[in-house]
Amino acid sequence: MKEVIRYGILGAGGHARLVHRLLCEIGGVELVAVCDPEVERAVSLAGQSGAGVYSNFEAMLDEKKMDALVVCIPPFAHTGQEIQAAERGIHLYIAKPIALDMAYAKKVLSAIERNKVLSCVTYGMRYAPGICKAVELLSARPAVLAEGYAFLRVRPGGGRPWIARKSLSLGQMFTQACHVYDIFRYLVGEIVRVSAIKCEGFIPRTDAYDIEDAGVVTLHFASGAIGQVSCTVMSPSGVSGEYGFRITAEDLVLNFSNREGILHIVDGSVHRDDSSVSKSNDCEALMLSRFINAIRNRCGSEILSPYADAVKTLQVGIGVVEALRTGQAVNIPPVCSDK
Ligand SMILES: NC(=O)c1ccc[n+]([C@@H]2O[C@H](COP(=O)([O-])OP(=O)(O)OC[C@H]3O[C@@H](n4cnc5c(N)ncnc54)[C@H](O)[C@@H]3O)[C@@H](O)[C@H]2O)c1
Repeated sequence: MKEVIRYGILGAGGHARLVHRLLCEIGGVELVAVCDPEVERAVSLAGQSGAGVYSNFEAMLDEKKMDALVVCIPPFAHTGQEIQAAERGIHLYIAKPIALDMAYAKKVLSAIERNKVLSCVTYGMRYAPGICKAVELLSARPAVLAEGYAFLRVRPGGGRPWIARKSLSLGQMFTQACHVYDIFRYLVGEIVRVSAIKCEGFIPRTDAYDIEDAGVVTLHFASGAIGQVSCTVMSPSGVSGEYGFRITAEDLVLNFSNREGILHIVDGSVHRDDSSVSKSNDCEALMLSRFINAIRNRCGSEILSPYADAVKTLQVGIGVVEALRTGQAVNIPPVCSDK
């Protein structure tokens, strides 16, 4: 009999619902508590599960024993919950972006390391089977050009109002495009310098909407390769939430989108649509399975997106925000721990 992994959820919005559904499909888990200041959301997510419902996070931790905490709160709402959980030995599954600033992320990282808990950040593309193939191909032929995109539909007064507010999300080029910065770090190597241009005013700016309508980020990698990421929040709903990339190396092109989940390979003069290496499009389910297995096996070696690595992706996102604010290129410093 497999050990049942008990988990709590912090933030009962759209992403938490997906994670809960996937965990139920994986099985061998039990939802014990849900916390959200909007209690009706927590009630709705808990459904018939019998899980406790809370608006107060500390009360949830005091009253419910859990092995893992799923953190699905908006970027502005991280106020030390991961640290409190880590100090109780609770393993962490955290939705990206992990924070709005480096100082906070470093405190969380040090709590994770001090308390030796496992962590997994939702950079799901890393887990797609096709991405393993991309790692293999790019290790023999290093990338020269990395082109990415991130599409979203955001409107003032829409669902998830925090996304449209710069102070709460730092904008789409931070909060969504981080998936692309992260996969580029994974496949191409560390990003050392960024610059960015933006456009605004196509959607009227109000108190409820003050983010960029579109933007383009340029990237310099430590390897000498270059890249760019194009972003817009003016996409139709049909492509909202889509992101992906095209990476070129010598005689090699790799194409991937999160929606399709298949790596398309153009290798030399032969075109291969190699779906045999990349059938699954459910990266999040693969990522969750590895997280749950890591807790059972008490070994995090199968987790491809630990918090310690996500901190480096955060540093790139912070650099992009700074480049947008100043109009100047920004050097991305290596991440040093505060220990
Ligand atoms: N593929 C991915 O990695 C992916 C996909 C979607 C969303 N996300 C991330 O997940 C996070 C949540 O996104 P969402 O789409 O679910 O947003 P959402 O707005 O649908 O849900 C957020 C929920 O958090 C709750 N909340 C706010 N402050 C809280 C607090 N202090 N404590 C507890 N709950 C709090 C809100 O009431 C709301 O129910 C965001 O950081 C987002 O970027 C990641």
